[in-house]
Amino acid sequence: MPETLSIWTNIQVATMTPGSPYGAIENSALAVSGSRIAWVGKAKELPDPFKNRADRVYDGKGAWVTPGLVDCHTHLVYAGNRAREFELRLQGVSYEEISRRGGGILSTVFATRGADEQELFRQSTPRLESMLAQGVTTVEIKSGYGLDVDTELKMLRVARLLGKTYPVTVVPTFLGAHALPPEFRGDTDAYIDFVCRNVLPEVAGQGLAVAADAFCDTIGFTREQTEKVFRTAREHGLMIRLHAEQFSNQGAAELAAKFKALSADHLEHLSEEGAMAIAKSKTVAVLLPGAFYFIREKRLPPVDLLRRHAVPMAVSTDCNPGTSPTTSLLLMLNMACTLFGLTPEEALAGATIHAAKALGLEKHVGTLEVGKDADFVLWDITSPVELAYAFGVNPCQRIIRHGEPLDHRDFAPLPDAH
Ligand code: NIG
Ligand code: FE
Repeated sequence: MPETLSIWTNIQVATMTPGSPYGAIENSALAVSGSRIAWVGKAKELPDPFKNRADRVYDGKGAWVTPGLVDCHTHLVYAGNRAREFELRLQGVSYEEISRRGGGILSTVFATRGADEQELFRQSTPRLESMLAQGVTTVEIKSGYGLDVDTELKMLRVARLLGKTYPVTVVPTFLGAHALPPEFRGDTDAYIDFVCRNVLPEVAGQGLAVAADAFCDTIGFTREQTEKVFRTAREHGLMIRLHAEQFSNQGAAELAAKFKALSADHLEHLSEEGAMAIAKSKTVAVLLPGAFYFIREKRLPPVDLLRRHAVPMAVSTDCNPGTSPTTSLLLMLNMACTLFGLTPEEALAGATIHAAKALGLEKHVGTLEVGKDADFVLWDITSPVELAYAFGVNPCQRIIRHGEPLDHRDFAPLPDAH
């Protein structure tokens, strides 16, 4: 049976392909065959065979269309929250200090260990639903609040179940080297051995993650420890990404480059050598303005340096309970401009083409091009700049995932639906 052919007319597309601002085409049309994009261009140039054979024709009523948004760095699966810690930080206690006192990431580890799989799923769904309602069609989700075999596997199974339940592509990352669990207190090397011998092989063996990440920082793990995790990850066929240079410079970007990491994330303390290294390894710099804002960082990621070395910049929520309790990638576009100095076009590229690259999915998503997945969003805006300009609003009108227009119920099932 031939695939269903749909035509979207009366639209303006921001293809996000390089070469012109937003890769924009006004008065355009887009053809979808099955789950893939079959044609995109000026409406008047739409070839007759598409017009004649279309099974369905949709009127976009002048909407702007972008690729489905890609959130390439999230810790979306966790239990509990850290509102109390927020109060402490407002009283002047720093994020690092809270972490040193045994709070921070570890308090989420206790809550996540204590929640069974169903409960963890239940607590994670409102966050995912909120993301999807704002046009996200691909999301990366990290483990890292388990730090033991059972809970790391549980988190990754929940991430997988979210991807099966909702119309979204979930990209799972193993973040065993996120913090030191209490049972290993005083012996980070022993914990890293445990991650490499007991946890990572199990995660990889069960196919529960496609990449490994680590937190390389003074309150995380050293370069040597991170390198050990990366070597093991590589032996098990996992790709690499890294929380790098967030609170201090550890030469973490250089380490990410050495392992040809897909992404190096945060980067507030990135050096010129680090920028040169990731430029060479074609590693994407993932900027996380939500975390910068929420923990009231002073030091900006060196955006000019990244531009000078032509490092692609992605923008993501870093959705997590401690440093970025947000689900709004749209808000991050605005913050990437106001706080980090990105242009609105760079910000949108950061949540589409470059975020796709940060996940190794650039052949499938991130731009509107023939052959790519038909994941796209119709927005109630008059120019693509508006996606970064307005904040705290959601102009998302319609989401098309793998060629199928979603119904509101697709991304917000009733609470008792599972
Ligand atoms: O990306 N930097 C470390 N990891 C997270 C924070 C996790 C947490 O505080 O729960 C981040 O900012
Ligand atoms: Fe993070």
